[in-house]
Amino acid sequence: MQITGKLLRSTVVGALGGLLFGFDTVVISGTTGQLQRVFHLTPETLGLTVSIALWGTVLGCIAAGPVGQRFGGRNVLRVLAVLYVVSALGCAFAWSWPALMIARFVGGVAIGGSSVLGPVYIAELAPAEWRGRLVGAFQINIVIGILVAYISNWYIATLNLGATEWRWELGVALVPAVLFFFMLFTIPQSSRFLITQNSLEDALSVIRQMGSADPQRELEDIRSSIRHERQEAAAPLFTRSLRLPIFLAVSIGLFNQLSGINAILYYANDIFSAAGLSRVSSFSQSIFIGLSNLVATFIAMALIDKLGRKTLLLIGSVGTFSCLLGVALLFHSGMHPTWIVWLLVAFIGFFALSQGAVIWVYIAEVFPTLVRSKGQSLGSGSHWVMNAIVSGLFPWVVAHYSRATPFYFFATMCALQFFVVLFVYPETKGATLEQLQQRLESPDSREPVTEVRSASC
Ligand code: GLC
Repeated sequence: MQITGKLLRSTVVGALGGLLFGFDTVVISGTTGQLQRVFHLTPETLGLTVSIALWGTVLGCIAAGPVGQRFGGRNVLRVLAVLYVVSALGCAFAWSWPALMIARFVGGVAIGGSSVLGPVYIAELAPAEWRGRLVGAFQINIVIGILVAYISNWYIATLNLGATEWRWELGVALVPAVLFFFMLFTIPQSSRFLITQNSLEDALSVIRQMGSADPQRELEDIRSSIRHERQEAAAPLFTRSLRLPIFLAVSIGLFNQLSGINAILYYANDIFSAAGLSRVSSFSQSIFIGLSNLVATFIAMALIDKLGRKTLLLIGSVGTFSCLLGVALLFHSGMHPTWIVWLLVAFIGFFALSQGAVIWVYIAEVFPTLVRSKGQSLGSGSHWVMNAIVSGLFPWVVAHYSRATPFYFFATMCALQFFVVLFVYPETKGATLEQLQQRLESPDSREPVTEVRSASC
């Protein structure tokens, strides 16, 4: 089946939310040094400045599911695009630290919301045979957004703009935000949403535009899956039979962040300066972090169905553990600053190859269909909350203990992750979702599986 121009455009626009997500979370890394000086931040308030957007993310992620269902994903994405614009302008013109915090929080709500609605919008429009690859475009976009943020920060740092530099670094997010907003007017409502509104003719026309081979049958399939989901809304998540999937989803979300990935991405410039690099070389070295992330993500996408999730997680934990321990020992001894940079580049590569790619796939496949979207929210919600905690505490731990302390901690968590994965995590590659459900649920309560759907928080 051929991919139509309209489907491609809708996918690109939906995935642009991912680019903004990657860009807006990581762009703060270039500003931490200046913000500390301008607003006289303590380690505690610096942590809050970085993590406030992540608390907004938690809110956006919780609210997006129900609001999207009520008003339609594309319409809510337009509102989120406005929030991205408001946040970029608010950061650029912030007259005080509280104003900056509010602007970052608003941006966080948009990030959390589009991290749910972007992939869901794409998944709802894409024909089944294209869905995996098209939804995968969202993850690639996050990683591209991270790389673009590092490049943009580096470029702005070379312009020597003085005291206003941080305003430009944060404010430049206005460009993709405005683009996103206008592009959202060129794409249709999803057929699934139109069906929930009883606009069956419009839904049929959208399904045709997306290149479906049998539009009428697809319309009927979606109608029956919507009936099925109404049952899902009533199915409880916290039952004894779902102990293992719940443990897997929550633990993978927590381990993901306890590896220190986002603290390292957000404080990259600070870490590099502490390792002895000059300001501009800190900015340029961050670009290698973004590149390593992008290249390893492509490799992971190619390997995930061949080597399997568990193998990638095990290789990744050995790699991330070794790199983090190396960084901790080097900070401890105060020697070889450039090795710290390359060890961190290697750390990001190992992370992207394993945890980075596996988390979203794993939490999407370990739950039975009737509770899948709730289970996904639980897994990704635990990831966002732990992200906010780790990123918020990072500067405080460095100030009260030492530069090496957080890295010893992250290394220990990666070692722990290795053993938990080895002894508890099942391999899920190659099995159908029905087979997985049989394997992962305790036998006391099994429910029939009829259809596969994805939604994430
Ligand atoms: C993973 C993490 C996410 C992180 C990203 C970095 O997707 O879950 O928190 O920002 O990788 O590439």
